[in-house]
Amino acid sequence: MIYLDNAATSAQKPEIVYETLSSFTRFHSANAGRGTSKESLFSLNAVINAQNAAAELFNISKPQNIAFTQNATHALNAAILGTLLKGGHAVTTVMDHNSVLRPLFRLGNFTAVPADRYGFVSPYELERAIRPDTKMIIISHASNVCGTVQNIKSAAKIARLRKIKLMIDAAQTAGILTIDNSVLGADFIAFSGHKGLMGPLGTGGLYVKEPDELEPVITGGTGSDSEALSQPRTMPDMLHSGTINTPAIAALSEGIKFILKTGTENIIAHERELAELFRSELLNMDGVTVYGSGGNGAIGTVAFNIDGADSFDACAMLSGFALRGGYHCAPLAHKALGTEKTGAVRASFGLFNTRAHAKALADAVFSAAAELRASNGRTFFQKPID
Ligand code: ALA
Repeated sequence: MIYLDNAATSAQKPEIVYETLSSFTRFHSANAGRGTSKESLFSLNAVINAQNAAAELFNISKPQNIAFTQNATHALNAAILGTLLKGGHAVTTVMDHNSVLRPLFRLGNFTAVPADRYGFVSPYELERAIRPDTKMIIISHASNVCGTVQNIKSAAKIARLRKIKLMIDAAQTAGILTIDNSVLGADFIAFSGHKGLMGPLGTGGLYVKEPDELEPVITGGTGSDSEALSQPRTMPDMLHSGTINTPAIAALSEGIKFILKTGTENIIAHERELAELFRSELLNMDGVTVYGSGGNGAIGTVAFNIDGADSFDACAMLSGFALRGGYHCAPLAHKALGTEKTGAVRASFGLFNTRAHAKALADAVFSAAAELRASNGRTFFQKPID
């Protein structure tokens, strides 16, 4: 099995991540910030180390303003609901994920800015969607469907000039593209820990520039200000109610250090090289359609379809590879790309993939397309549940 579903999670991690998760669970499972035992302080220190590593990666001057969450969805919900529960309009894009669209749909007051057929959103359209009651812009840095990268510098400039909060959804780009918040000045960065940052499943994080302006959605024990009934407003305690997963956070910290050592510029260069190798082969094949822009306008995620097969059937034909078919929790993105009826097959290349993996998948797509042509579009695969 060749793993090509890095947009879902990076299933292969650096060895130090596995070792840290295991040794921390075995030897350092005391609760961070609860009491003053040596072990509790050791756990707290691991969280501080992880904050420092993430702050270095995003060039954030206040590491304490980074909280760790279960995943990017949890981080996005904390910022969206914590900013908009009392009202206000939000601007997002059709390329955003259900982790943004569903909380906004629940609140009922948002505009999803359209994209072109490659998945690009125009900064002009983004600005045009702003209304007098707009409180927040939420923009996915790169599409989880076709990899298209948005112009977050322009989004940041618009948000700054119009005095609106900006959240970057870096679920697909943290650890892959350089994100320098000393330049962008985003109010929130929501990130996944278990994808590009190489941490364990169940990790993510949220940077909050102005904690005083965020309402905590989940409240509870933080180990601080225990005599007060009100939730502390200091970060990260404000967003760290209940016992946090310190072994996973410690392992995530090692993942981030590995990324810092490797360099995001080298990581994106590698992933783009593999994606371009694969794309260029597919673009020359009969009966295969490729979506998105590719090139420097995308990360290493490629969406495609094979004529005569829906995306699940195509995945079944390519069963030697871990791919993802269907709609990828991004229904509006599929509409923009014209794949709302078929879904698409997604191959997402990661740091541990090789040119041989890209070539092997291209060869398998070629054979599948030929087989489908020969069978006149009839397939015999059972459709899995989306
Ligand atoms: N959002 C992740 C994906 O696109 C899980 O697969």
